Amino acid sequence: MDTKVINLYNENDNNYIEDCASIIKEGGTVAFPTETVYGLGANALNGEAVNKIFIAKGRPSDNPLIVHVASIEDARKLVIEITKEALLLMELFWPGPLTIILEKSNIIPVEVSAGLNTVAIRMPAHSIALNLIKAAGLPIAAPSANISGRPSPTKGEHVVEDLLGRIDAIIIGDDCKVGVESTVIDMTGNVPTILRPGGVTKEQLEEVLGEVAVDPAIDKGINLEEAPKSPGMKYTHYAPKADVVIIKGSKGSVIKKIKEMIFENRQLGKEVGVLCFEDTSLEYLNVIVKSLGKRDELEVIASNIFNLLREFDKTKVDIIIAEAVDERHIGQAIMNRLVKAAGYKVIYAKDNT
Ligand code: TXA
Ligand code: MG
Repeated sequence: MDTKVINLYNENDNNYIEDCASIIKEGGTVAFPTETVYGLGANALNGEAVNKIFIAKGRPSDNPLIVHVASIEDARKLVIEITKEALLLMELFWPGPLTIILEKSNIIPVEVSAGLNTVAIRMPAHSIALNLIKAAGLPIAAPSANISGRPSPTKGEHVVEDLLGRIDAIIIGDDCKVGVESTVIDMTGNVPTILRPGGVTKEQLEEVLGEVAVDPAIDKGINLEEAPKSPGMKYTHYAPKADVVIIKGSKGSVIKKIKEMIFENRQLGKEVGVLCFEDTSLEYLNVIVKSLGKRDELEVIASNIFNLLREFDKTKVDIIIAEAVDERHIGQAIMNRLVKAAGYKVIYAKDNT
C-alpha cells in the first residue's frame, strides 16, 4: 500500500487537512498527532474502515478503540446518556488526555466496542487532531499509531517506522507533549473507576468526583483468571526488543544493585542498557545509558519514556535495567507503562546489603 506522508516540518501543504479528511470519509486510515501519542484514525461509524486499523496494527480484535470527537455535542450521539458527572469531566478536562467510558448508542459498530455495550470517548487537545475530526465531520476511532505491542509513538518518525506501507496517510507534526496515553475512566458503574492511568491524574479526578476507584488489574498485572475491565490491559505492551527489568528502592541501593547487575550481565557476555535520571547517568560504566531527565520533573519524564524505549532498539543491548520512577501524579502512568514494558519484572533493592 502507498502511504501518503505529510511532513509539516518540510512542506507547506495547505490542503493536507482536507485531503486527509477525504481519506477518512472514504473509509481509509490516517495517522495524526495528538497531545498524548500519535493516533491511527478511521471513520468510527464505519465497521469496515475500523477493521483496517486492526489489520494495520496487528491488534487483537477484542480490544476496543477510543472514539475521538471535536466537541461535547459530538459525543452525545455516540452514547445513551452523558451522565451529570461525565458532563462535569468533559467540561473540566476536555480537550485533554481523559477518555470517558459510557453506555454506547447503536450507531457505534461492533468493531469499535469489541462487543462491549460501552464506548470510550475523548476530545484531544491538539489542533491537527481537532481540525481533522471537524473537516471529516465524523467521529474518528483511533488507537495509538504503533504496531501492537511496541512502545506508543510520540514522534512522527515512530509512526513511519511502524506503519509506512500499511496505512493510507501519516501526518508528521510536532512531538507529543504529554507522551503517555490518556487516562481511561469508566463512568458506567456506581463508583467511577480508572481503567488505565494516564495524562489526567487520580488526584485531579478525585478533586472533582470524590471517590475514584482503580481497576485492580492495573497493579496486579496479568492475571488471566480475572480479565481486566479495559481489555487492552491484558496484552504485552510497550516492549522494546531487549528484556527490561525495573529496580525499585532508595537511590543509593538502586545504584548499587544496578552496578552489581551490570557486572553480572557483562560476565555473561550481555550488552547492557540503563534507563536512569540525569543525576545518576554518570554512575554506570561500560553500558549504554539513557537519561529520562531530572528525576522530579515527571512531566518531562513522561514525554521521554516511549522515545527512549524505542531508542534502545537501535542499539545492541540484550537487557535494559531501569530505575523506577516516582509514582506520584503522572508518575503512576509512567510506571504503569514501564512495568508493562518490563513484563512486570520489578526487583526491590534493599538497603545495606
Ligand atoms: O491517548 C490516547 O488515549 C491515545 C490517543 C491516540 O488518543 N489512544 C490510545 O488508544 O491510547 P489505545 O487503543 O492504544 O488504548 C485504548 C485503551 C485500551 O486499553 C482499550 O482496551 C481501552 O482503552 N478501551 C477502549 N474502549 C473501551 C471500553 N469500551 N471499555 C473499556 N476499555 C476500553
Ligand atoms: Mg495503544
